[in-house]
Order: sequence, then C-alpha cells, then structure tokens
Amino acid sequence: MALRMFKFCTVLRSLPMRRQRQCFSGPLSILAKRKFSSETRSLQSFDEMIDMRRGQAQRSVLVQVYSGNSYSDLSELCHEFGKVRETFYYTTNEELHFMLVEFESKESARKMMDSATFGQQMPAVPCVTPFLWMRANNIKKAGKGTLCPCPEAVSDSEAKPEEILHQMRSAQSISQQISVLRNLTKMADVGTRLRFLTARQLEMSLSGAFPLIKALPFGSSVNGFGKAGCDLDLVLQLGGLEEGQEIKSQGSRLVYHGKNNQSCNGRALVQRHMEVIADFIQHMLPGFSKIQRILHARVPIIKFRHDLTMVECDLSMTNMTALYMSELLYLMGEIDSRVRPLVCFVRKWAQSNGLTNQTPGRWISNFSLTLLTIFYLQKKMVLPSLGTLIHLAGPNDKRMTADGINCTFLRDLSNLSISKNEETLAELLTGFFDFYAGFDFASKGLSLVSGKEMPKPEHCPLYIENPMERYLNVSKNVSPEETVRLQVELRNSSWLLEQIQDEEQNGRESQNWGVLKLLLKSDTSGFKVPKPKTFRLVQVKDLFSEQENGFSQPRPFLRDVNKSKPKRR
Ligand code: CTP
Ligand code: MG
Repeated sequence: MALRMFKFCTVLRSLPMRRQRQCFSGPLSILAKRKFSSETRSLQSFDEMIDMRRGQAQRSVLVQVYSGNSYSDLSELCHEFGKVRETFYYTTNEELHFMLVEFESKESARKMMDSATFGQQMPAVPCVTPFLWMRANNIKKAGKGTLCPCPEAVSDSEAKPEEILHQMRSAQSISQQISVLRNLTKMADVGTRLRFLTARQLEMSLSGAFPLIKALPFGSSVNGFGKAGCDLDLVLQLGGLEEGQEIKSQGSRLVYHGKNNQSCNGRALVQRHMEVIADFIQHMLPGFSKIQRILHARVPIIKFRHDLTMVECDLSMTNMTALYMSELLYLMGEIDSRVRPLVCFVRKWAQSNGLTNQTPGRWISNFSLTLLTIFYLQKKMVLPSLGTLIHLAGPNDKRMTADGINCTFLRDLSNLSISKNEETLAELLTGFFDFYAGFDFASKGLSLVSGKEMPKPEHCPLYIENPMERYLNVSKNVSPEETVRLQVELRNSSWLLEQIQDEEQNGRESQNWGVLKLLLKSDTSGFKVPKPKTFRLVQVKDLFSEQENGFSQPRPFLRDVNKSKPKRR
C-alpha cells in the first residue's frame, strides 16, 4: 500500500509558472534542476560521505597560530611535508586563531606531526595528536619566501542575527525566506571538518592499543540537518565488528591474547570501559574539558567539550542504531531538496517560541521535531515511508546491529524516483502548521515506518514511534504540559500564517513580513530569544534512567500552562 502511495514519477514535466519564478536561487534552483534530470539525485551514499570525511580528517592537522599573518610562515613550513590540498583560517570569535590544513596525503600529515616537539612550559603528558601550535619564528630569513594572502577567516557559528534578519527581509518570497534561513544557519564545511578531526584525535590516541578502533560521528553533525555550532554525537567502537564485517587474516595461526572480563559483562562492562575512557580523556588528552559521566542512562554517555575545535560532544559506545538512524535522516534530506530547509525552519520556530531548549528535558527535542516534519512530508507524498525503503532494499542494504536490531533499508537513491508533489516551501510550511494544529495528539501516534497515524500503544502525551527500535517512543520525555504548549503554538502559527498570506495578496505593510512574523518578538526588534526558564531546567544527570529518555520518577511540573494559552483563536 505504502509502495502504491509513493508512486514513482518517470515523466519529466515542466514546472508550473509559480515554481519557476521561485527557482532562481538556493535550494529551489536545485529542485528545478532535479525536475528535469533524474541524474541530479544524490549520488553520494552516507557511507561514502562518512569515508570521505574520515579520509579528510586523516590528512588534516589543526595548527594554532598567533594571527592570520602567520599564514605565509605556516604555508612554507607545510610544504616541507608535502603538497597542501586546502587551508582554512579558522577563528573562535576572533580570540583563538587556527589554520586547518588538509594535505594531499595522510603521510604528509603524519610527517608534520612527527616533526613537532613537546611543549616544555607546562607539565603536560607528551601526546601526539593532530592538534599543534606554531611558535613564533625569531630567525627572519631575509628575502626568502613570498608573502601569501591569508584565506578569509571562517568560523563554526551561524550568521549574526542582524544579517539573517536583513537577508530574510530582502527575500522575494516566503519560500525564499525559508531557504535564506537554512543557508545562513547550516553547518559549514569547516564545522564538519572540525568535528571529524575531533573524532580522529580520539581514534589516534587509542589506536596503539586498539588498532580496530573507530570514532564515528552521528546525529546532526552528519545527517544534513546540522546547524552551525551544533553538538557532536560520537559512537566509539573499540573494535567490535558488526555482522557482515570480517576480521582480516581470519586464517592466521597466531591469535592475540585478549582481556577476559569474567567479573562483569554486557552493560556493566560497557560502563567500566566508559569510565576508563572518561578518565583517559580527562587526564591525558589535550583539548578536552568539562567531562561529565552519565553512565546510568539507557544509552550511557560521556559529555565533554573540546576547547580547540569548540565542539560539545556526547560520546557513547553502544549506539549503532542511532548511527543508522542518522543515515536514514541523511537519505530523507537527500531525497528531496525541500526537506532540510523546512526542518531548519521548524527547529528555528520551535526555538524562537521557547518549545526547545539546549538542555535535554521534558520538552520536545530537535530530533523529534525532525521526525514530526518528515512524517508530515510523508503524508504529502514528498517523502516515502520507511516501509517503502525497506521494501526496496537490496542485498547490499542489509544491516544488523550487534544487539540484533535490523536496520536494513534502501541506500541507493538512484532506484527511487522524484515525488510528484510540487508544492513550494511556503505551501508546505502552511500545510505543516495546519496539519499539526488539528492533529489528535491525545489518541494518535506517528509512525514513519508506515507513514501513517497509529493508535498509541501506551499512555503518553506525545508518541513518535522510533523507526529503528519500534517498541520505543522517541518523544517519551515530553510532558503533558509541553505537549499542550506545542499544540498551542502550532495553532497560533497556523492562524498567523493565514493572516500572512492575506497580507501577501493585499500588499506588505512592514519590512518584517512573511515568516519573520513567526520568529520575531512582538515589538519586531529582533528574533525572539526566550530566556532560559530555570524552573523548567533539571540537572542533566537526573534526566536519565534505564528507560528510553524517560524519568524514573514523575516530577512535579512547576509551570502554569494556562499562561501560554493562545491570545487569539
Ligand atoms: N537518536 C535516536 N533516538 C533517540 C534520540 C536520538 O536514535 N530517542 C539518535 C538520532 O540519530 C539523533 C542522534 O541520536 O539524530 C543524536 O541525538 P540528538 O543530539 O538529540 O539530536 P540531533 O539530531 O543531533 O539534533 P541536535 O542538533 O539538537 O543535536
Ligand atoms: Mg546532536
């Protein structure tokens, strides 16, 4: 049935005039191209993208420099080790200055690391990693070398709010406003490189003892929905192999001795390993700080920050389903170019209206909002259901996690045709708010597997079936009060969008037009930045229990939800 619902379109048709007008820039122009050529569908699989990024990290080093003026000096130094492919001048809010250098080969990066010496001014543990700093060169070589202009500084933060506001005001249409927001807030190439280099440092430092180790980024850093500055979710595999993978030299007569942990196994063993890794990161590895051990969660994690890449990390050791979940989201984003801008807008809207918060808690997460948007796009036949992708999977798509969860679904999108739905981003956004404003959250859950509503299998305010582990509810953490707040804001925005569209037809009255009205403060002086409501916050360690994202004990909710009743409607 799901297969029939998502019919494959092979006839290439011209776009309606309205769409053609809007296809002059940004993602919509990609959409236009794709409409005329089936060859423009993604062509880099998730695995290929991950391999490409990991390769890039193996060829890269991050060198802290005094300022951008050190570029010539560093370039000259780098050429002693090999050919440089690309250099990024990266600053952390203008305070620290770095050059991220990618060589043509990983041997050159290795040579450069081997040529470095250990700092003497502090009692640091000597440690070889791709993070270096360059001393000032006091011996001036008169007349030698030419001064190269430093590349423009890049950073891992999104555009300034004033810039976003300016560009959204100057957009030509509501759809273009949504595209502009996505383009100015999405994670830049340098952000991805810094995240993979952080993973590389961990991998490199532990690879002496564990040569099969892999530190694999997942979540918004790799699924294509990442915002500049988003956190880095990492899964560290010491070498346990997934089904289908084989250890080389299986036939060798010599076998390594291994540690036999008879005293503990399974979950307890993972917790022990994580304690050791956390201690190692905390006391031995440069750059890592603010280590927090949250080992009693359903998925035990270590949280930390990397002071050189400025990335906040959540490290787990048993989360392969989340990795495949990231692959699914990546594919959904690749299937249709409207998906990422729409998800980006929905996340920004939720943040502006105080529905999400950086700290995990009883409110909806960005991940749940992404699934909510994908579900709506499945209903609109922009995206196929997961059931369809499972149905179309071939022998190369088989994936099974070590704990037996089947994550098989179609990976090669060239086997999937383009949706017949030609609605603009503006139309889809209006449809999104209308759909959820009237959604019966009280009795219905969302299934991305069937692409349809489902009866709720358990009593909870918001039910979104986990597409990989179907007995789990992704939004189990969301409280009744937060669900009501979500519905209220959805209804408000649906109502506001009606007005916005009337205004579009009758002429704009102010520069803060279109979807800016959903994001700006009531005096329209800037984006809404909800103050952190400390009484809604809880300690991170208190958030986790053995249950999926749930609380072991229900907690009293202190907010008077009536205060957020819609003013209109
Ligand atoms: N995940 C999951 N099941 C959950 C929560 C998370 O499978 N109940 C997986 C998803 O693949 C998700 C990833 O873990 O993308 C990371 O979770 P999180 O950091 O909460 O979400 P992100 O998608 O990374 O979004 P954000 O930008 O807010 O970090
Ligand atoms: Mg994340």
